[in-house]
Amino acid sequence: MEASNLFYRDPALYDAVQEDSGSAAACRALIERHRPDAATLADFGCGTGRDLGILAERFGCVGVDIQPGLVDYARRVRPALDIRLGDMRTVRLRRYVDAVVCLGNSLAYVHDNDGISAVFATFAAHALPGTLLVLCSPVSPTVRPEPATATVATPAGPAQVTIGYEWDLRTQIDTMHRRWALPSGDEAHDTIRRRVLFPRELEHYASCAGFEVLDMLNDPNAALTGPIAYTVARYAP
Ligand SMILES: C[S@@+](CC[C@H](N)C(=O)[O-])C[C@H]1O[C@@H](n2cnc3c(N)ncnc32)[C@H](O)[C@@H]1O
Repeated sequence: MEASNLFYRDPALYDAVQEDSGSAAACRALIERHRPDAATLADFGCGTGRDLGILAERFGCVGVDIQPGLVDYARRVRPALDIRLGDMRTVRLRRYVDAVVCLGNSLAYVHDNDGISAVFATFAAHALPGTLLVLCSPVSPTVRPEPATATVATPAGPAQVTIGYEWDLRTQIDTMHRRWALPSGDEAHDTIRRRVLFPRELEHYASCAGFEVLDMLNDPNAALTGPIAYTVARYAP
């Protein structure tokens, strides 16, 4: 499933297309608001380290990702970062941090309830009382009746990407189908399956792991409307 994601096969394309997502800035603003003295941070599901590279300008950072290709790429292009290969359901870094973050929908790639509980246990295993959790994840499905096409800039030139969604209520998996018309003239298809956790579910997983939810919002200055939200929680076991 993971290998079908074009970005995982071509991490440089991911960096180029996602560069301006603003999630590192939003995450930093939320940490400054709720835990201004935070000095250390762990990013679970850090991918290419694009957010970690920005957050490392302010915090002492460590990142973890499960995809060896992304970790290799991240270490090559961002050699100053401390990036580990690991599964956020099980990894233990043997350290505590002031802020635990999980950005860019990484949690949504864990589909089953036990796995999600295990990820929250990992967050707790790296937290001390007062540690802040900032999580960016889908809280409602993307509702779009017809596929939409957009042009995206890639290192090789403009590509056309057509994106459609399929929602399965029973499993709460939102499937994104992407068709790429690449500058080379080649076509690529990929399928991304993301688990939606509604706000009350997120609250439940957080509180079972000892986190008290402080806020859920679309970005630091926008109330929660979905489909992607920041959840901010404090470890208070
Ligand atoms: C959409 S990417 C987001 C990456 C990064 N947070 C960002 O915003 O650029 C989702 C990431 O989650 C990672 N991931 C998925 N399941 C994981 C797991 N069980 N443990 C660690 N990383 C995981 C993937 O390898 C991928 O890098």
